[in-house]
Amino acid sequence: MLSEEPDFITMADEEIATNFTTPVKLSVLLLPFLKNNGNSAIVNVSSGLFIAPKKSAPVYCATKAALHSFTKTLRYQLENANVKVFEIIPSLIDTPMTHGRGKSKMLPEELVDEFWQNFKNNKLESYIGKTKLLKLIDRVSPRLACRIMKNGL
Ligand SMILES: NC(=O)c1ccc[n+]([C@@H]2O[C@H](COP(=O)([O-])OP(=O)(O)OC[C@H]3O[C@@H](n4cnc5c(N)ncnc54)[C@H](OP(=O)(O)O)[C@@H]3O)[C@@H](O)[C@H]2O)c1
Repeated sequence: MLSEEPDFITMADEEIATNFTTPVKLSVLLLPFLKNNGNSAIVNVSSGLFIAPKKSAPVYCATKAALHSFTKTLRYQLENANVKVFEIIPSLIDTPMTHGRGKSKMLPEELVDEFWQNFKNNKLESYIGKTKLLKLIDRVSPRLACRIMKNGL
């Protein structure tokens, strides 16, 4: 939640750095090596929350929307450079991050299986689990997608 506490500003800075600024910097710094390698890939992990945000996580959702956009444009820029740019868009996955919240979570192993199939088939955007349905709903009715996600799952 947004808060006027000084801690909120520090935490927001940290979350933006971890989720967005660092992947941007890493991409730039590693690019010369990746380009030289001949057959490389970048895999960024965003979230279904870039499609429609939940009110309790304003900064997290914003970083994921930014990462999604950055990943897409990076892919455009590297189209002819032999560096593939993948994006994993997870639904709710059973990891320490989601401990104690959410129902019917997917196992990390299921995410990996789904992504690996897509990776082998050169499918660059992996909508995992329920994010496939969310994407479809958002296409038909962005307002409904927002209503579903507003309070989280
Ligand atoms: N779980 C979900 O439902 C879900 C859904 C959508 C997207 N995602 C995304 O999936 C990715 C992985 O999340 P997860 O669910 O696997 O979470 P997790 O189990 O909590 O793991 C987070 C990982 O990020 C590392 N990390 C956290 N802050 C860091 C920092 N400041 N600098 C460097 N490393 C840092 C942690 O390292 P340490 O172990 O050393 O602390 C840990 O390895 C994240 O980008 C998350 O946003 C997760």
